Amino acid sequence: MTESLAAPPTDTAAIARAAELLKRGGLVAFPTETVYGLGADASNPAAVRAIFTVKGRPADHPVIVHVADAAALDTWAREVPQAARRLAARFWPGPLTLVLKRAAPVDDGLTGGQDTVGLRCPAHTWARALLAAFGGALAAPSANRFGRISPTTAAHVRADLGDRVDLILDGGACPVGIESTIVDLSGPAPRLLRPGSITRAQLEAELGQPVPDAGADAPRASGRLEQHYAPGAPVELVPAGALAARVNALRGERLAVLAPAAALLDRPAQVVARLLAPADAAEYGRRLYGLLHELDASAAMRILIAEPPAGPDWEAVHDRLRRAAATQETPHSL
Ligand code: TXA
Ligand code: MG
Repeated sequence: MTESLAAPPTDTAAIARAAELLKRGGLVAFPTETVYGLGADASNPAAVRAIFTVKGRPADHPVIVHVADAAALDTWAREVPQAARRLAARFWPGPLTLVLKRAAPVDDGLTGGQDTVGLRCPAHTWARALLAAFGGALAAPSANRFGRISPTTAAHVRADLGDRVDLILDGGACPVGIESTIVDLSGPAPRLLRPGSITRAQLEAELGQPVPDAGADAPRASGRLEQHYAPGAPVELVPAGALAARVNALRGERLAVLAPAAALLDRPAQVVARLLAPADAAEYGRRLYGLLHELDASAAMRILIAEPPAGPDWEAVHDRLRRAAATQETPHSL
């Protein structure tokens, strides 16, 4: 645990102003424990549509509804299974999104026209203060343009979306750093739609049953596009032991490298940025998008990333790196 984990004290005046803007249909970027969200009043279809315009996101992608507590399960969802209540009781507030059958009045703009809705109760003090001041639910995808790197600081949001949002609340760096774990509980058995800091093993321990990946029939989830969270330059994942040879083979290309200390001890001139990969999974997750932003800003022609260790705690990090490395030429059409 480092000092940067503690969010600065909530700015009550800024939060009151944000709540006012949201009530009038405005867009407010706000910190959560995972990444910054681009928030709008979830019960205002025009405000929800504005999110899609600002992000440049296809209209048929569903967006997570952020709620203040587990009581909201029955407002937004129907036929809520016991498994959802258990997971909410155990992990909310926190970085877990539950996909459930939607309640009848839920707007199509939130669900992408599907019969399900994604619900998450965030833990970040600023997000909680905002939900309390606003008094309703907030539709919020990550506050980045579609397909680009998720923001973990207010500066990332400003750089990507700037004045296209009405207000950016600056609550410091996000302590988890990668998006929430998403579990689909709308079918007969739980399925993992997106790995996150709450691990599959934690979900399985709480539910007492396996939580396999979703199959091809999974509900649409934009985070599940193959190419996602990606810098502008192509990203290549390389086994740490093969990194030096790969750099050598790419002689003449300006490279940016993310690797553990032991890999690439000497730094050839063609490596214009060399960032140290954290050795701990939680730390890697927390810093991943900041590191990708930095690698992206280095003006390298190609980004090489040493594959992190295997193991259950690393599942979410591997998932996001794989998406950052997926090429635009082979999008997975979900
Ligand atoms: O940590 C997070 O979840 C962050 C913060 C802001 O809360 N939000 C986030 O939102 O990552 P977004 O929109 O970037 O990613 C949400 C994912 C998308 O892949 C979306 O398709 C999926 O959740 N999702 C939302 N509702 C869904 C539904 N009803 N069925 C399936 N997937 C859903
Ligand atoms: Mg996103």
